[in-house]
Amino acid sequence: MDKLRISGGGPLEGEVTVSGAKNAALPIMCAALLTSKPLALSNVPRLMDVSTMARLLAQMGVAVDRSSSAVQLNAEKIVNPSAPYDLVKTMRASVLVLGPLLARCGRAKVSLPGGCAIGLRPVDQHVKGLQAMGAAISIEHGYMHAAARKLRGARIVMDLVTVTGTENLMMAATLAEGTTLIENAAREPEVVDLAKCLSAMGARIEGAGTPVIRVEGVSALGGTAHAVMPDRIETGTYLAAAAAAGGRVRLSKVAPETLDATLEKLREAGARIATGSGWIEIEMAARPNAVGVRTAPYPGFATDMQAQFMALASVARGTALITETIFENRFMHALEMQRLGADISIQGNTAVVTGVERLQGATVMATDLRASAGLVIAGLVAEGQTLIDRIYHLDRGYEALEKKLGALGAKVERIK
Ligand code: EPU
Repeated sequence: MDKLRISGGGPLEGEVTVSGAKNAALPIMCAALLTSKPLALSNVPRLMDVSTMARLLAQMGVAVDRSSSAVQLNAEKIVNPSAPYDLVKTMRASVLVLGPLLARCGRAKVSLPGGCAIGLRPVDQHVKGLQAMGAAISIEHGYMHAAARKLRGARIVMDLVTVTGTENLMMAATLAEGTTLIENAAREPEVVDLAKCLSAMGARIEGAGTPVIRVEGVSALGGTAHAVMPDRIETGTYLAAAAAAGGRVRLSKVAPETLDATLEKLREAGARIATGSGWIEIEMAARPNAVGVRTAPYPGFATDMQAQFMALASVARGTALITETIFENRFMHALEMQRLGADISIQGNTAVVTGVERLQGATVMATDLRASAGLVIAGLVAEGQTLIDRIYHLDRGYEALEKKLGALGAKVERIK
């Protein structure tokens, strides 16, 4: 299993080009199931999760043609409207095929995702919404069996804000009969990017990016070309790294307007930040100030940035409170950071982090994707060598991480 060896110390200087957003690319790939015509995607990140999604779609009969960051998908015929456990268990976003399959084929068999390291992550809201649209869904032997001759538009009030839940229902509603209202919808930019692609395919969607999304069903969707939005979490990760290590970094091919909460916190930490169309520059001249964060659905502070900010707080001046409100078990990185000398105590869903002058390199274990990103940042500011084990988590969500960090002057090496 690959490991990452980081020799910490030294500021970061240089430029990084940010990739397309994983969490926009995955739902948009599933949108290909809604049409018999080709969907041509660009700015798709080269990641394990994208390969897994491509494999999942291919085993349904979708023609997948991938070269570099371009992915062509053609679901002219869907021969097998199902998602097997083996693929779903490695990537929970696989559940995003449920809505599109049901809308297009009238049936779907999708493995229940089960729990994962960061929490229980049930899919009851996906199921409830599709049932409101007329689907019959039963659970047998760990699989959701869904059927509906024709989905009907419905008013759906989500019990809580769920990103993939909103995306699944929005996709299903595009081909339903009549109008669907999704209330308490997720407002994440990735939902907006998916709506943009669906609209270009001929869907009639209003309100994406607000708490109420209105979809008027159409009888068929066509193909289109779509460029996936920039990855705001990858962007935020490099920004947090620069804020922790110091230096001056320019990020290009980014969408600064999707990062308000992160940029505000980085400024609070003492970073100087400039933004323009498609770029962000960060300059950090001194030790960061401690900044507390509380995760919340967009436009609040992203849970996917929490681990990176814990790393930042671990070397900051003062004490920061980091509260996680989205997932019940997303502090596993705290224990690993303690192994690097961080002063962190956990009280319920809050981590109390008192910054130390310097962390110390050690061997640590990555437990999930964003936890790994937090450990990389901690490793960059630790004295001596940090060895991160289980970095397959990182490969799920960060394209060419060691190359990009290397371009900033960091000493990061993959060990086979
Ligand atoms: N939830 C339910 N019932 C549901 C759906 C969700 O109780 O039917 C709960 C979850 O257990 C969680 C909360 O609602 O406590 C929010 O979960 P959400 O459904 O929004 O998460 P998700 O859609 O499964 C996406 C991202 C995650 C990101 C979260 C929160 C994708 C593919 N994944 O997950 O990204 O953390 O939204 O913003 O879009 C990552 O990239 O590392 C990652 C985990």
